[in-house]
Amino acid sequence: MTLHEHATPAEKVAAMGSLPAKVDVKAPLVSQEALTEGVFKLTAVAPSIALRAMPGQFVQVGVNRGGTLLRRPLGIAEADPATGHVSLIYRVAGKGTLALSQLKPGDEIKLLGPLGHGFSTKAKKPLLVGGGMGLSPLLYAAGYLLGHKTETDVLMGGRTEKELFWQQLFKECAKNIHLTTDDGSLGTKGFVTTILPELLKENGYDLVIACGPEIMMKNVAKVCKEHDVPCEVSLERRMGCGLGACLSCSIDTVSGRRKVCKDGPVFPAEEVFF
Ligand code: FES
Repeated sequence: MTLHEHATPAEKVAAMGSLPAKVDVKAPLVSQEALTEGVFKLTAVAPSIALRAMPGQFVQVGVNRGGTLLRRPLGIAEADPATGHVSLIYRVAGKGTLALSQLKPGDEIKLLGPLGHGFSTKAKKPLLVGGGMGLSPLLYAAGYLLGHKTETDVLMGGRTEKELFWQQLFKECAKNIHLTTDDGSLGTKGFVTTILPELLKENGYDLVIACGPEIMMKNVAKVCKEHDVPCEVSLERRMGCGLGACLSCSIDTVSGRRKVCKDGPVFPAEEVFF
């Protein structure tokens, strides 16, 4: 492949020939913004990851703090092969994410990925169901699927209206957005499972993809089973290596012991013991 002067990052990566499934790269930040209190979106340049990332996969993010490299797994919220940009949305919840939130455009992070197995992308009419930071990988799923001519509906739940700032982010890439809040401050009062049965009955979804608090995914999986709709869930576990080597993320499933980082994080709901 001959590169022209204005080659995109994706073209530059393609020109290097085939790459391994995952890479460990230094990625300069192009932006960092606060979405709401304690929640940030950062975008970094990582063309070789942007080119390979599938919805539901994650990266191990490394940030230097006092000479120590802190690594943390984060789901991919956006990946654009054309620009080489990868975006991550995270809540500050410890030293690593605090250090991450203090970085400015031009600063570098380490990105190892894309890692794990993501969501199915073959469904014709998927419903994405999420809550909290679980909506981050679903955002990439909605954008990716739209780019591959599949429209998605989204059902999101939060405790209050404030937690559903996500609806602005999904506006560009989801067809219909359904909202629930525990206190009724926005959308239907209740949980996602308050309106899920009705949505499944009326819309003929052929797959439900759920990501969020475990109790939410457990209840979503139960409703899907009752309505005979396949369901995938994305599990979150404490991770060490992120590569299948340290066993810190092992879980028992109906098909035996599995590693969330390597065999997941996405599993068919019927395989998981909630
Ligand atoms: Fe090490 Fe999964 S994080 S095996």
